[in-house]
Amino acid sequence: MSDAPFKNPGWAGNTGEFDLTEDEVRGDDFVGSRPSGGGHPSVSATYPYMLAEKNPDTPLFEGAYKERFEKILTRYPTKQAALLPALALAQEIRGYVSPQSMDRVAELLELSSAYVRGVTTFYTMYNKAPVGRHLVQVCTNISCNLCGAEDVLAAFLRYTDTELGEMSEDGNFTVIEAECLAACGFPTCVQINSRYYENVTPAEVPKIIERLKAGAAGGDV
Ligand code: FES
Repeated sequence: MSDAPFKNPGWAGNTGEFDLTEDEVRGDDFVGSRPSGGGHPSVSATYPYMLAEKNPDTPLFEGAYKERFEKILTRYPTKQAALLPALALAQEIRGYVSPQSMDRVAELLELSSAYVRGVTTFYTMYNKAPVGRHLVQVCTNISCNLCGAEDVLAAFLRYTDTELGEMSEDGNFTVIEAECLAACGFPTCVQINSRYYENVTPAEVPKIIERLKAGAAGGDV
């Protein structure tokens, strides 16, 4: 893996008692892909992001996904209780949870469409629109805000050439604001896909963007 472009040890970086590299600490091996048959036999992915090139017209819960969907149902006393992992699986397949996906999940779980839409729109981990390969979530809550999060957010928007929530033309980036990411001791905290970047300053943003672009082009992320 490549070296980090800046010093950002985080909560358990190699300045702590563990002899780990930053990449090992942040664990990015699985980012961006998951076999259709899943990993653990009975769970659904819970990734808060998906790739821009996912096909939103892919049939839901067919083939290997049908098997995973059925396994998910076995873990709950009623099929209605499987709503959250079913939505997560729909997002994994199609890249986001469209109104059509919500309706299909509602039909399969024998819930009303309104109920499913209420749940889906409550949770920010379900994307209601396609997002870029790198979903950049900048915490602008109180600790981060006091330490300059607004400037970090502005820098991400400037260097990705996007508006808030918009996908960049190359499909690489979507930048959004996040509420507290529970890393308040390391402001500004930015979550990019599953990885946390801590103590981020505006000056580091171009380097982070370049690193992510290199990853999208086939290099290490
Ligand atoms: S306020 Fe930013 S991580 Fe908590």
